[in-house]
Amino acid sequence: MSILWRCGALIALGIFVGVLAQYEWQPKDAFDEIKVKFDRATADNCPILHVSDLFLPEETVSHLPDIKEFDQNPIFPNRTALLLLHNMALTRGFFWSYVLQSRFIRPAINDTYDPGMMYYFLSTVADVSANPSINASAVYFSPNTSFSSSYRGFFNKTFPRFAPRTFRLDDFNDPIHLHKISTMNTFDVRDLGSFSPDSISHDYTTDFYKINEWYKAWLPDIVENRHDTKTTYQVEIRYANNTNETFTFHGPPGADEDPGPVRFTRPYFDCGRSNRWLVAAVVPIADIYPRHTQFRHIEYPKYTAVSVIEMDFERIDINQCPKGEGNKGKNKFADTARCKKETTECEPLDGWGFRRGGYQCRCRPGFRLPSVVRRPFLGEILERASDEQYYNGFDCKRIGWIHKTPIDWYRLPQYTRERYLNHYYEYKNYTKGATSLHSEKVNVNEVLNFILGVTENTCNNFHAQDLVLNGDVAFGAHKQFANEAKMALRLANFISAFLQISDPLEVYSGKRVADKPLTEDQMMGETLSLVMGNSRIWTAATYWDRSKFTNRTLFAPYAYKTQKNSRKFKLEDVARINKTGEDYTELPYFKLLKQRWAANFDSLEKYYMKMRIRHNETGEHSQKYEHYPNFYHAATMDHGFWTAPKFECKGYVKKWLVTYAAPFFGFDSLKVKLEFKGIVAVSMNMLGLDINQCPDDYYVPNAFKNTHKCDEKSSYCVPIQGREYELGGYKCECLQGYEYPYEDPITYFDGQLVEAEFLNIVNDEKSRYDTFKCRLAGAAALRVEFTILSVVLLLSWMLFRRWTR
Ligand SMILES: *[C@@H]1O[C@H](CO)[C@@H](O)[C@H](O)[C@H]1NC(C)=O
Ligand SMILES: *[C@@H]1O[C@H](CO)[C@@H](O)[C@H](O)[C@H]1NC(C)=O
Ligand SMILES: *[C@@H]1O[C@H](CO)[C@@H](O)[C@H](O)[C@H]1NC(C)=O
Ligand SMILES: *[C@@H]1O[C@H](CO)[C@@H](O)[C@H](O)[C@H]1NC(C)=O
Ligand SMILES: *[C@@H]1O[C@H](CO)[C@@H](O)[C@H](O)[C@H]1NC(C)=O
Ligand SMILES: *[C@@H]1O[C@H](CO)[C@@H](O)[C@H](O)[C@H]1NC(C)=O
Ligand SMILES: *[C@@H]1O[C@H](CO)[C@@H](O)[C@H](O)[C@H]1NC(C)=O
Ligand SMILES: *[C@@H]1O[C@H](CO)[C@@H](O)[C@H](O)[C@H]1NC(C)=O
Ligand SMILES: *[C@@H]1O[C@H](CO)[C@@H](O)[C@H](O)[C@H]1NC(C)=O
Ligand SMILES: *[C@@H]1O[C@H](CO)[C@@H](O)[C@H](O)[C@H]1NC(C)=O
Ligand SMILES: *[C@@H]1O[C@H](CO)[C@@H](O)[C@H](O)[C@H]1NC(C)=O
Repeated sequence: MSILWRCGALIALGIFVGVLAQYEWQPKDAFDEIKVKFDRATADNCPILHVSDLFLPEETVSHLPDIKEFDQNPIFPNRTALLLLHNMALTRGFFWSYVLQSRFIRPAINDTYDPGMMYYFLSTVADVSANPSINASAVYFSPNTSFSSSYRGFFNKTFPRFAPRTFRLDDFNDPIHLHKISTMNTFDVRDLGSFSPDSISHDYTTDFYKINEWYKAWLPDIVENRHDTKTTYQVEIRYANNTNETFTFHGPPGADEDPGPVRFTRPYFDCGRSNRWLVAAVVPIADIYPRHTQFRHIEYPKYTAVSVIEMDFERIDINQCPKGEGNKGKNKFADTARCKKETTECEPLDGWGFRRGGYQCRCRPGFRLPSVVRRPFLGEILERASDEQYYNGFDCKRIGWIHKTPIDWYRLPQYTRERYLNHYYEYKNYTKGATSLHSEKVNVNEVLNFILGVTENTCNNFHAQDLVLNGDVAFGAHKQFANEAKMALRLANFISAFLQISDPLEVYSGKRVADKPLTEDQMMGETLSLVMGNSRIWTAATYWDRSKFTNRTLFAPYAYKTQKNSRKFKLEDVARINKTGEDYTELPYFKLLKQRWAANFDSLEKYYMKMRIRHNETGEHSQKYEHYPNFYHAATMDHGFWTAPKFECKGYVKKWLVTYAAPFFGFDSLKVKLEFKGIVAVSMNMLGLDINQCPDDYYVPNAFKNTHKCDEKSSYCVPIQGREYELGGYKCECLQGYEYPYEDPITYFDGQLVEAEFLNIVNDEKSRYDTFKCRLAGAAALRVEFTILSVVLLLSWMLFRRWTR
């Protein structure tokens, strides 16, 4: 009995140990090290933590977007959010520089042209509200450099400190929202420049602030001797009254300068504010300082403020793969992936943020997936695998016979060629030119020939109707130009917020005065900064509806550039063209959006603000803004409109342009109801898009859908990003159960090669297209299977025994 008992206990112990021991002790790696630091800082303990505990190492954010490489290297989806951060900061840097210096194109008066406080606040709110991936936005001024129109008798005086900042609140527990879900639409808005003079730890310009690396990135700006150290930008302005003016202003450094215009901070803990780990993009704002001295030689350009846009560190993708071609530069997390290096190699995936497992393990060249596995091994599954699973799985199998790639090849025999041409019959009998787009199955080569054949010089040879393409030709624009569209949306949201929240007639106690209505210079600056801050935006326009802008019937600043990487821009008020039927209110997308938003505004998004402003002009302390709750309605991305690609032969920018337009809203004259006030439109070059030739669902409006040339029996098509508007932006990967037969550093057929060789068939030339097929995965090599062998031996031995008996 007791023996039985002991045996039972022993077995139980065995199982218990076995279960416990299935997870091996993993050595601590760079990720764990950072994660410990990441978790250590909390809202409660951060004020007493040492400065070094409030920052993460610089290398934790790898692959920062570099403005010098925008035209050469594609930006991958794992960096689009950082790119938006970069471009937003840059845009704001240009805008504030423009608007602070715009006093030089206006008559000298004994008052300031500067925007009021509400303009600053709402501008930072719009940065965050229109961009879900941005969590905070701010403008920090150096001491005694911020002029304001918000106080009476404040001419030539400055705020000691001024720093309007907005961050997104988690409104899960907010009494305004009863649903108990986070809307992401509530913002904390405050002036960080208002603090009591004795509490020096609240002074963002001093070291006592601890986390102010954004401030130190560019400020304080001490200019010595040479007074012309700031980069200048030139804008040719043409006003509605047909007068021209060239305005030159100082701004952030140019893209070609070193250092460039944007600096990123290390990740830091936003202590006492949003209490999250943030990464900031910082751009300086230039002004001519000091002002109003009557001696221009002692006034010189100087950085007086910085624009700081921030996002959650947690949302920035990390790359755990070993260093290599796609993973150069500093990277704290390099080589923390668990891929089995002998047979697989690591490839990063996007959208994982600061989490383990954002990668997959593909087979190395010369290896293939086991036939029961459909796709590369996911990092997340590897990371969670038990010891046993890890050691027995996640390996690729060696491919037995590897071909050398053929060096010499031949013209295909006629019947094989005929077979291919019957399959891709669109290459047999096709039309050229614009009509090639209208056949039932398009011949992509002809379509591209047509589209790329329309240029500045040739566009006059085409019919106007041929220069407007169907929307499906620009498939992917919504996604690939989302960053650009968001910048237009931001401006639309800002105008909506300003029109709804700032009342110029409001009277406050004390010396405070309400913001004046939006001025022409502000709107011109905002529009221009879209073009300046984003290299992919070619034109930007703010079209105000008839009689909606103060003192103007029509008003429509339209900014554009004629070449990339230049410091010269053009700005025109297209209200100049005011003949009935030709003005901008006749634009199809203007009319469409105006009609759509004529009566019903229910679907607009509602944004709440909790605003704290300064007590008086010296700051001292902050107080609640008089209105509470404070909210406005504005459009989201889906409320805007994408146009079909168009080539405007008579336009300012002669390219295939795709336009996104977003509406903005204010109150009607009785202040009771919302009203459509106009639109903001940005245009991008369609030829910067990647085209997708892979198959997709029947309802997906993509003109190039399913035009790839992969062998469908043995391989499937996977898009490659960053190849732009050219054929072959895909690869043919082997299907499950097939293997890549050639000796090659890659394990797929490259789309560009496939397309080129296919064309050779069409032209009846030498082609190796016929060899672009994966091979059925057979046994890798001759191998002895011991179980089967022993069973067979046993059986034959038994038979032998019976037989001999
Ligand atoms: C501004 O004020 C100064 C002195 O108060 C006066 O001399 C000057 O004429 C004024 N300028 C304008 C444009 O009003
Ligand atoms: C910051 O933005 C991310 C989206 O990128 C969002 O998931 C997160 O909740 C935001 N943080 C706060 C405090 O709202
Ligand atoms: C800003 O101006 C105030 C008042 O004129 C002065 O006391 C203070 O020293 C100035 N600060 C700086 C940094 O110049
Ligand atoms: C068009 O603009 C010109 C110049 O600004 C102005 O004289 C004219 O009255 C305008 N016409 C209309 C119809 O508004
Ligand atoms: C034309 O308009 C601009 C801006 O409104 C103004 O500064 C300029 O003085 C005007 N020119 C004439 C000749 O009216
Ligand atoms: C302004 O410049 C444009 C070209 O940019 C020119 O066509 C136009 O005649 C100019 N207007 C005046 C009044 O000089
Ligand atoms: C404005 O302030 C600057 C520097 O503080 C001073 O040099 C200048 O004289 C002031 N101008 C006027 C018009 O008061
Ligand atoms: C982003 O993706 C690209 C292409 O896959 C890769 O080369 C790069 O290393 C990735 N970066 C990060 C941080 O994951
Ligand atoms: C080519 O197509 C046109 C019309 O689509 C047709 O009339 C013609 O017969 C076709 N030619 C060949 C060789 O199939
Ligand atoms: C609009 O015009 C009126 C009358 O000319 C003027 O008093 C007012 O200052 C103008 N408003 C703006 C914002 O320019
Ligand atoms: C601002 O308010 C503080 C505290 O109420 C006061 O001491 C200070 O004199 C005020 N400053 C001005 C310029 O009124």
